[in-house]
Parts: sequence; structure tokens; C-alpha cells
Amino acid sequence: MNQTVQLLKALAEPTRLRIVALCRTGGDLAVSEFVRILGQSQPRVSRHLKLLTEAGALARIPEGSWVFYRIDDTGPVAGILTALIDSIPADDITFQRDRERLAAVKRERAEAADAFFSANAREWGKIRSMHVDQKEVNACLERLVGDKPAGAFLDIGTGTGDMLTLFADRIERGEGVDQSRDMLAVARATLEQEGLNHCRVRQGDLYSLPYENGEFDTVLIHQVLHYVDDVTGAIAEATRVLAPGGRLLIADFAPHEVEDLRKTYQHRRLGFADFEFDATFTEAGLHLDQIEHLSGDPLTVVVWSAHKPGINVRRSVGE
Ligand SMILES: C[S@@+](CC[C@H](N)C(=O)[O-])C[C@H]1O[C@@H](n2cnc3c(N)ncnc32)[C@H](O)[C@@H]1O
Repeated sequence: MNQTVQLLKALAEPTRLRIVALCRTGGDLAVSEFVRILGQSQPRVSRHLKLLTEAGALARIPEGSWVFYRIDDTGPVAGILTALIDSIPADDITFQRDRERLAAVKRERAEAADAFFSANAREWGKIRSMHVDQKEVNACLERLVGDKPAGAFLDIGTGTGDMLTLFADRIERGEGVDQSRDMLAVARATLEQEGLNHCRVRQGDLYSLPYENGEFDTVLIHQVLHYVDDVTGAIAEATRVLAPGGRLLIADFAPHEVEDLRKTYQHRRLGFADFEFDATFTEAGLHLDQIEHLSGDPLTVVVWSAHKPGINVRRSVGE
């Protein structure tokens, strides 16, 4: 009961109610983003965030010089909190304005990332090799996929399509989806050059993939999640298009402190801890099978392999 009272006290203030409502729609948000949306000073916003964290409403995720906040949906007051937020009328003018400002902040961020990929589409292979030895990562992914046919394969955030070419010889059909036209132009040229007629790419957003439920046997998200602001939403959407018995592979960085990647390469997140996807996988209905670490200095790559329980009716992959 104490915790419920503490939560209700924390929420009984307009700015704090606005903050939790923003987190409910906005995924992980950084302090500087709250400052812009709410139009209040950083010390003030930080005080509100501290109170909300202490009351169990928000989870605090420190990362280098940034701190992200999200709804603490694992805590004891999570149910009451989400019910309260959901009871706010959709047409409330203050919350509506906050949502508009949040959308503008996200749009700006997406445009900056898109401009980066447009400017660097042809150089992407070179940029990537600065991170870690890609051959090692490819070998790990191939090992995890195994020798069995990988069926229908989806590469989310395919960029220049390198992962499609890597798996082309063991898949029945390959699809790559990406929001950057320039990256896709390079991918198309490569697929054509290599005669990979069973693979194609299309423009789309990873939060609303242009595919049917359960369409793919293997789904890969390779070096994409550190750009996105709603990792949970991205994984849920990837799971939607995965067939029962199908496999989801995620490759990204382990937590690191190379702050410059934010400025120079538009990274939003400085890597992910092993446990970070635990609750998300469970919620999405996935079963985590394996985590592999490929140590590098200063960047270690981690590969998470999970599957969607059930029998794959198309082929003998899965349980
Ligand atoms: C670092 S690149 C990785 C490309 C590729 N997976 C690889 O490893 O070679 C990240 C890619 O994610 C794409 N991306 C970022 N946010 C996206 C979104 N919301 N929807 C679709 N693609 C997105 C970018 O356009 C970019 O091509």
C-alpha cells in the first residue's frame, strides 16, 4: 500500500503526469528530450524524473553522459500506473500538445539519422569495419542459423543489404526492409550484380513492417537497434512477422562508453546489456536460446538468438 500511496503522490502534479504520459507513448526518452518537450529547465525536469523513479513509475537507464527513462512496467505499481495514464482523455489539450512536440523531436532525430545514412550509404561497409571485425560477426550469425535451410528470411534495417547476400545461399527467399532510399539503392545494385533474384528490398519502417503475420522463418536485426527509440516496439513488430518455430537474431553492441558515436554516427543507445531484452522477449512471446559475445576494443558485439515457440508448418525448423 505504501508504494501505491507514494506513486499517487508523485503523480499528483501536472508536469509529472505529463512525463509518464509521454513515456507511455514515446518509448525511451532522454532528459534533454523531456526538457524540449516540456519547456522547463533541466534541473526542474531532473527533479521530477527523480521523484517518479523513486515512486516506481519510471525505470532509469544511465548510458554514458545520457540517461534514458521509460515506464517501469515490471514494478509492483505498473498496473495502476498504466491504468491511470490510459484514463487521460485522448483530446486533452496539454497532452495533445506534448504528443505533437514529442512527434517533432522524433522526426528531427529520424531525419538526422536518415541524412547520415544517405550521406554514407556507399561508405557503409568501411564505416562498419571500424567497429569490429565483421567476418567474426558473420561467422557467429552463420553458426547460429546452422546448416538447416533458413526458409523465408527478413533482414530488418537491411541498409546496403549485406546480410541478405551473406545468407542468400541458404534461404528460400529474402526480404530486406529499410527506411533509407539511398541505402536501399546500394542494396538493389548489389543484389542485381550478384544475381540474387530470390532476394529483394523495399522501403519501410521497422515499427510497422509491410509484411503479414508469421511470414518469415528467420528474422535478423543487425546493428540497427542502437538507432531506434522504442526497442520494445521494434522487437514486438519483428516477432509479429515471425512464424511459430521461427528464429529472431539480434546483433548489436554491448554497453560501451564511446560517446562520440552519438555525435558522429547518430547512435542513440550506447549498446545493450545482456538482460536488457529479457522482459521484452518474454512479453513478445519469444524464448531466448543463446547469447554470444564477440569481444572487441572498445566495442564488443553481442548476438541474441531467440525463437517463437511452436511448430513451423512450412519446414522442419523450430521445435
Ligand atoms: C547501421 S545500419 C545497419 C545496416 C545493416 N543491417 C548492416 O548491418 O549492414 C542501420 C540501418 O537501419 C536503418 N533504420 C534505422 N531506423 C529505421 C527504421 N525506423 N525503419 C527502418 N530502417 C531503419 C537505417 O536506415 C540503416 O540503414
